[in-house]
Amino acid sequence: MIDFKVNGQSVSAAADRRLIDVLRDDLRITSVKEGCSEGACGTCTVLIDGKKRTACKQKIAKLAGAEITTIEGLSRREREVFEYAFGFSGAVQCGFCIPGMVLSAKALFINNINPTREAVGKAIRGNICRCTGYVKIIDAIMLAAEYLRTDKPIAAAPSAAKVSQHYSRVYNRDKVLGIGKYVDDLTFDGMIYASALRAEYPRAKVVKIDTSEAEKHPHCIKILRAADVPYNKTGHIVPDWDVLIAEGDYTRYLGDAIALVASDDKAYLKEIKDLIKVTYEVAEPITCPAEAMRPDAPKLHEKGNVLARERLKLGDVQAAKEKAVHIVTQKYITPFQEHAYMEPEAAIAVPEGDVLHMYTASQSVYDEQKEISRMLKIDPQNVHCHAMLIGGGFGGKEDMSVQHHAALMAWHEQRPVKVILSRQESLVVSVKKHWAEIEMTTGCDEDGKLLFTEAKIITDTGAYASLGGPVLQRACTHAAGPYNYQNIDIEGIACYTNNPPGGAFRGFGVSQSNFAMENNLNLLAKKVGISAWQIRYINAVTPGDVLPNGQIVSADCALKQTIKALREDFQNNKNVGIACAFKNSGIGVGLPDIGRCIISVEDGKLHVRTSAADIGQGSTTVCLQIACQTTGLAPDKVVIEAPDTVRTPNSGTTTASRQTLFTGQAVRKAASLFMEDFDGVDLKALNGKRYFGEYSGITDPMGSPKPNPVSHVAYGYASTLVVLDDAKRLSKVIAAYDIGRVINPKSAEGQIEGGVVMGLGWALTENYKIEQGALKFSYGSLGLPRSTDVPPIEVRFCQSPDLAEEAYGAKGVGELAMIPTAPAIAGAYFAADGVLRDTMPLVDTPYSK
Ligand code: FES
Ligand code: FES
Repeated sequence: MIDFKVNGQSVSAAADRRLIDVLRDDLRITSVKEGCSEGACGTCTVLIDGKKRTACKQKIAKLAGAEITTIEGLSRREREVFEYAFGFSGAVQCGFCIPGMVLSAKALFINNINPTREAVGKAIRGNICRCTGYVKIIDAIMLAAEYLRTDKPIAAAPSAAKVSQHYSRVYNRDKVLGIGKYVDDLTFDGMIYASALRAEYPRAKVVKIDTSEAEKHPHCIKILRAADVPYNKTGHIVPDWDVLIAEGDYTRYLGDAIALVASDDKAYLKEIKDLIKVTYEVAEPITCPAEAMRPDAPKLHEKGNVLARERLKLGDVQAAKEKAVHIVTQKYITPFQEHAYMEPEAAIAVPEGDVLHMYTASQSVYDEQKEISRMLKIDPQNVHCHAMLIGGGFGGKEDMSVQHHAALMAWHEQRPVKVILSRQESLVVSVKKHWAEIEMTTGCDEDGKLLFTEAKIITDTGAYASLGGPVLQRACTHAAGPYNYQNIDIEGIACYTNNPPGGAFRGFGVSQSNFAMENNLNLLAKKVGISAWQIRYINAVTPGDVLPNGQIVSADCALKQTIKALREDFQNNKNVGIACAFKNSGIGVGLPDIGRCIISVEDGKLHVRTSAADIGQGSTTVCLQIACQTTGLAPDKVVIEAPDTVRTPNSGTTTASRQTLFTGQAVRKAASLFMEDFDGVDLKALNGKRYFGEYSGITDPMGSPKPNPVSHVAYGYASTLVVLDDAKRLSKVIAAYDIGRVINPKSAEGQIEGGVVMGLGWALTENYKIEQGALKFSYGSLGLPRSTDVPPIEVRFCQSPDLAEEAYGAKGVGELAMIPTAPAIAGAYFAADGVLRDTMPLVDTPYSK
């Protein structure tokens, strides 16, 4: 027996195993999260004899006599202080990294209870956070240290949660103390585990799948194949993604599922899969759009290798070209990017009579319901999706990744089934940011006033469509930037290849085309002889102007103020880069786009019911603050329900930075109806009453003949400034943002800081490298930014005096936060050495490997 202690309790184990399995599976200590299984992310951080260690890399055979501490083993005072400090600082977003951060802080405090920010940054270097940009986590740890060394009393929870004030996130306590439930934290009686055998080759004909040996494995319960799937396609918009690849069909990428294996013990899944023999006829993969578009290229899908084409022509580019004094033409390549949300994809399906209950972590429970019911050919009403806490999404959890497989196996076996991707599988299987090649020509007059932009944008949408069509469309509609000129000719093509599928990723195509536009502006400014700041300032749209896409700029636009907010810092620094961006809130372009909310009064509390998925961006807290603002109720009288296809109405997908505006306005409407009945005192008197709020964004379709079509109901605007030090490392980032009314300032700052750091990673350190369709890196070598890589980030909010009515004037922030950072960094290097860097990761920087 191996004997050790966990939080003071004696534990004995018969056989050697990983510590994380003993903690999570045997002791049900689910505050210890499994983010990577390779010792690289820190979500499984524990203390072993007071030293921090990763539980996924510890074998218990080496722990005889050791004392293990998890969050549950901290003193009551420590737990209260960490909960308060993280909540007060706005340090919690998706929360998946937070328990690990807390234990790293505890390890630091054992030796240093009065640390500097630098010491805190170093202490959490082993803990990756993909959401926050680390700034507020360091704030929280500094605050916790202050409380713990001074015995300062903790302030009572605030009695109001009004708009524009800080309010600690709704799930703050659950996430900080690790007591909230993510999918993998659930278990059900009789639950089995399923996992897909993946393709060996990115393009190969599957000649034969022999499961006979695997079926003899004593822990094999079932193996499903394509013939077992009622409708063998899935796909968010285009159903072109095989649930399982059939014999006789071709694989399209290495993430393709060939067979689905179920076992009563997850430890045997790999062993069983290894016994399946697949015979392939290997074919040459198509690895880039240029190959895909060759006339002799093999067709990856029946309709050919082009998923989508776009053409946006406005004004008269030819005439503008003739008038232009300065013209630049440049080709750019922007790379794939991994979402790297800290929680790997997970789903549990539980059959109950005719109903399949799904416990999931996606960006829309209704999208899951639609796709699972279509696959199983059952009534959507019989698929009941319940959202658990979601450990990050950034667009990557819009598609089915594990939900359909869990549902399929549970439907066949009529017992609960859990499916989880390993981190390595997640890197291979789920969607990525689209690789893009952009050739862009931009012209201006002698003063630097923009006259036209012409561009060709080609994206690699990989093996399946996912959201490749809309991503291409947004890349095109935003390519010419938030500037006041109206002659554009933008062509876009999205191609299938044998690479991982390109899907939604924070920025949604705009990150790519914005990188090209903003770099072209730097080239033009140099030709004109004005600064990078000046060329943006003189061209920025103001209310009443017309965007290049034809839409009239609304009164709430404060782009120019964001540029002004950076003027002094631009003038007072050398090696400085600046970039602007705009991003739509809502799906727009004439498509149905509706936020919905039911408010019901139950047991004397106001239940706010929406299906808006909170993937860490904070929509739950936004809904709470809007409900409290509208009703005047205290937050402890309001319950925000988790998305659930029975209890909460369809509020659309968490995408396009839409939930704050769309669902926020639906909450406001429902709350306003409630106020018509409420006497301001007796909530119980309204028990059983329900109020419905709906907000529909009305827009014009692409190509509308209207003179100034409304493509989107709202846009956020931003300008970002980056300063390099003499060693050419980033010494400061200042982000000036117009996101309309700021509902929760620290939460919005946290979104922006996180987006800045994600942009920093894309520009400088991350490299999702693939060759012949195969990954050439591991999670640990992907280059995700760590706490010590992050320069000081300052956020400045700028607001128009004329805010819109909807959602108290709030616009989205999530996607915008990603966009201008990379070109601002490229601009800083261009300013420092005059070299235009046309691809990423940017070459010849101190961050280059
Ligand atoms: S799960 Fe252990 S370090 Fe990532
Ligand atoms: S809050 Fe850190 S990963 Fe989401």
